[in-house]
Amino acid sequence: MKKYLVTGSYGQIGQALIPAMLERYGKENVVATGRKRKIPLFKEHDVIYHRLDVRDQFGLRSLIVEYDIDIIIHNASVLSATGEKNPQLAHSINIEGFYNVLEATRELNLEQLFAPSSIAAFGPSTPLENTPNNTIMRPTTIYGVSKVYSELMGEYYNQKYELNFRSLRYPGVLSPDEPGGGTTDYAIWIFYEALKRKMYKCFLGPDVRLPMMLMSDCLKSTFDLLEADDSKLTDRSFNVTAMSFTPEELAAEIKKYIPDFNIVYEPDFRDKIARSWPQSLDDNEARKQWGWDPEFKFEKMVEVMIEGISQKLGIDQK
Ligand SMILES: NC(=O)c1ccc[n+]([C@@H]2O[C@H](COP(=O)([O-])OP(=O)(O)OC[C@H]3O[C@@H](n4cnc5c(N)ncnc54)[C@H](O)[C@@H]3O)[C@@H](O)[C@H]2O)c1
Repeated sequence: MKKYLVTGSYGQIGQALIPAMLERYGKENVVATGRKRKIPLFKEHDVIYHRLDVRDQFGLRSLIVEYDIDIIIHNASVLSATGEKNPQLAHSINIEGFYNVLEATRELNLEQLFAPSSIAAFGPSTPLENTPNNTIMRPTTIYGVSKVYSELMGEYYNQKYELNFRSLRYPGVLSPDEPGGGTTDYAIWIFYEALKRKMYKCFLGPDVRLPMMLMSDCLKSTFDLLEADDSKLTDRSFNVTAMSFTPEELAAEIKKYIPDFNIVYEPDFRDKIARSWPQSLDDNEARKQWGWDPEFKFEKMVEVMIEGISQKLGIDQK
């Protein structure tokens, strides 16, 4: 069995990924790391956890050697909205941190580096409808710039050193866990506010269409690419998507469950970010090269989110 190290493991994705990895690969083969000293939930489930800042060269290499790590899943990142508030921090964590992880993977000859990218790697000059896998990438946020950097460096190390780099351009990922400061976060907070107050003030305009997927599809795509046969991959970075919708469409679907739900729109700086991103993605390369096939569409996603967040809030929807 391979041994995995996950960075940024207590983020929105890590909170779902770590339990799924324990089940799939076994507790003894997963090392979770993050910036917090302790994670009570991980302690409860006996997860191997270490404090690690991804910029710490010595700390990262020590853990790789101590646990004889084969594969790194690099999830530590500053997301789009937080990055725009502090571009220097985003540069330091997303670019310098990524370089540290990439170099450690090369120097210690690890088997694979998986580092998620994002739809934010695209920009206003990209064809924004049905965006192809390989197209213009000139993002206008520091987050997007850092994702293009990671993709290109990963691909360069793949050509130069045969480093097994793989990346997914996740769209907005939806789960009942708190999102980490991105632009697609509205599509999670809307459920919380609809269930708690029947009212949501949306920071995007009503018509901003963005690609999204439910967390279970995010995990499915991650495991599928992690475990894909290398000889079948002609790309290293892939578009993946399951649906696209606007805030207006999402609010209308939520109203089917909460008829007196109300939404108002007060677009802020995130509206401009969102309008520079794809409205929908062409994920045919992922489908062709490693069999990507999402499970959850829009209506089912809304049902799952209402159920999950009601449970979290202790609200009985029946
Ligand atoms: N959630 C989404 O909708 C989404 C969409 C596209 C791409 N992604 C990508 O997926 C990955 C995981 O995203 P997420 O949603 O879990 O993000 P998140 O913000 O919820 O979690 C990131 C984690 O990284 C940690 N972190 C920040 N700086 C660190 C540092 N210096 N050292 C170690 N840890 C650090 C944070 O504490 C946090 O726990 C990121 O690369 C992100 O860009 C996420």
